[in-house]
Amino acid sequence: MRAWTNLSYANVATTSPAAHKASMEWSEALARGGAAEFDGEAEKNGMMPLRRAAANLLSCEIEDVCVGSSATELLCSLAWAVSPAWGSNIVSTKASFPSTVYPWRRVAEANGAEIRLAEHDENLYTDPDEILGLIDDATSVVTLSHIEYSNGQRYNLSKFAEAAHSAGALLVVDATQSMGMVPIDAASSGADAIVSSGYKWLRGTYGAAVAYISPAIRGGLNPGLLGFRSHVDIWNLRADRVELPDDASRFEYTTIHFGAALGLAAAVDEINEIGIQEVWRHDLALADSVIDGARRLGIEVASPLSDPERSAIVSLRLPDGISSEEISRRLQDDYSILVTSRAGLLRVSPHIDNTEQDVQALLEALRQILS
Ligand SMILES: Cc1ncc(COP(=O)(O)O)c(C=O)c1O
Repeated sequence: MRAWTNLSYANVATTSPAAHKASMEWSEALARGGAAEFDGEAEKNGMMPLRRAAANLLSCEIEDVCVGSSATELLCSLAWAVSPAWGSNIVSTKASFPSTVYPWRRVAEANGAEIRLAEHDENLYTDPDEILGLIDDATSVVTLSHIEYSNGQRYNLSKFAEAAHSAGALLVVDATQSMGMVPIDAASSGADAIVSSGYKWLRGTYGAAVAYISPAIRGGLNPGLLGFRSHVDIWNLRADRVELPDDASRFEYTTIHFGAALGLAAAVDEINEIGIQEVWRHDLALADSVIDGARRLGIEVASPLSDPERSAIVSLRLPDGISSEEISRRLQDDYSILVTSRAGLLRVSPHIDNTEQDVQALLEALRQILS
């Protein structure tokens, strides 16, 4: 079997072995005996290990966390639940991953609300003041990717929470590129909702995602997606009524790949055991090595370089005429090293499974390819 050096956690994690094991055990149990091995009670409690692990990571209560199949799905349900009113506006950035914005676009189209996106420069950098300048009394939602997927720019959440709240708006955070890399304290971030996919920095697989929904807002939220699991007592099956749970689990509406959720719980527990501060320190140290080495090779770094805007996503601008697409393909084909080409930049995103040797192997491969 080919051994890969995955320096692309902003794309897809090499699944944590503990997550893979938990997910496979669940799949094998189902393949052996269906509901005899995964019964109604197990299904009812199937989200709990992940809710518990994610609450631990976000320093919040289990009641504040729910589980879904993808970040995009949770954001869509949330967007319909918030349902920004006619004439209001939703503020985000043009550099955002489409899923951070599209769910709001769909609801804005239906309701007659406006989407306002802050521009970025040639390095995909968005001036935070540009975003703040778009917020006014008619703003209903500010939605940001905590860390931008393309260049790793990190936003100060409390600053945006303050600006959103003083305009009477909500702050909704897509933490798919930050949760598991950066320490996040849900309550002190000021965010009203924080959503993250599971297959990147949290090191799970496809098929599971988490959301924090703040106690202050969730009581009034009617999720956009409803199903049998939306009812407070999921096995009291009656189509003529639905009573939503008080806690964040009101956003859980149906079956999911429970193996993915159980696996993700194991992966998040690993991060909790290492300690998110230690993960952050490790990831930034590797990012520093990428930055130093790239500069020594004469490669420009397009990502923000200083706190509080930097992260473990380092995007490199290759010399003129050299395609990031081509280089990322050669790194994969000839050196078994995974990075990603995004928006013309070569994106390197190391995480806890990586070592300094991995970064040096990347730099040596780049040196060979470019010379
Ligand atoms: C910021 C951000 N949000 C959401 C997603 C997609 O998440 P999911 O596949 O769980 O919908 C990505 C994937 O790259 C992302 O970078």
